[in-house]
Amino acid sequence: MSYDFSNSKILVIGDLMLDIFYYGKSFRESPEAPVPVIEDSDIRNILGGALNVANNIKNLGGNVSIIGMLGEDKEAQIINDLLEKENISNTGIFKNKNFKTISKKRIFSNNIQIARIDKEDQNYKFNFTDKDISQIEKQISSCDILILSDYNKGFLSENLIPIIIDIARSNNVKIIVDPKKLNFASYKGASIITPNLKEIQDATGITIANQKHLIDICKKIVNEHDFEHIVATKSEDGISIISKTEDHHISGKLVNNPDVSGAGDTVIAALALGLSVGLDIYSSANIANIAAGLVVAKEGTSVVSISELKESV
Ligand SMILES: Nc1ncnc2c1ncn2[C@@H]1O[C@H](COP(=O)(O)OP(=O)(O)OP(=O)(O)O)[C@@H](O)[C@H]1O
Ligand SMILES: [Mg+2]
Repeated sequence: MSYDFSNSKILVIGDLMLDIFYYGKSFRESPEAPVPVIEDSDIRNILGGALNVANNIKNLGGNVSIIGMLGEDKEAQIINDLLEKENISNTGIFKNKNFKTISKKRIFSNNIQIARIDKEDQNYKFNFTDKDISQIEKQISSCDILILSDYNKGFLSENLIPIIIDIARSNNVKIIVDPKKLNFASYKGASIITPNLKEIQDATGITIANQKHLIDICKKIVNEHDFEHIVATKSEDGISIISKTEDHHISGKLVNNPDVSGAGDTVIAALALGLSVGLDIYSSANIANIAAGLVVAKEGTSVVSISELKESV
């Protein structure tokens, strides 16, 4: 098996975010409200959303380009600094001063999360000119695999998705989607979608009773929307790969005290890299499962390196 992804070119399109972590110590309750008074905050900024997918690709040794939207605010500046540090190009990213860069600030007191402050603009209208679309087309035509990292924050609009999928298909580029929209029909024409169990339940309105039930539901979805595969992520139970005719299952690895945030981003990044070097979907999903198992074992980090992956396979 080849784990040299140095020639792989993956394009990630989606919702770009900044994750901000405030870690503080607290020794007393505030006299003003029943909340802790936090001293000495340690602040950590991390690439989030589609940017975390890109960061995972880079750390696994692949080449990555990103398309999404940033504002012209301090959060965008922090993101650009982080991208520079990781040696990830930001040239495909749209900038608009009217757009508020999406951020999620998590506040921890004595290592317990006590609040989250989100900054985003639900009403921003994404408009793309013909010139923007031809820029996007240029990037899609020169990549090996296209990832749509949809956090349903607006960049991947119902208008833009079919345009992107059409361009990718006419360039013979495989499309993998991490879906958050309730209607999977939005992703019609994609090759693979990687929902977790909750996303499958939310999209279908069906509560999954057991493994056989999951297979039946996923077969229905692939038939209905003409996907090649669903790569269903099942937290500690691993990954199931389901097509119109087949189903294949990879068990999860037992991890004590898992830190699961971002595991789905690691899955889609590793899956894309596996496919980009010609591995089949099962071997690629196997690598993705191993990589995600490594990432959940780490506290506070959401990427794995290629050397860590090689040691574990
Ligand atoms: N507790 C766990 N123990 C072992 N492996 C895990 C655990 N949780 C997640 N994983 C690994 O990570 C993969 C993705 O996890 P999950 O199904 O929770 O995705 P997700 O909900 O999209 O994650 P995210 O938190 O990034 O949104 C799993 O398929 C598995 O490989
Ligand atoms: Mg996810």
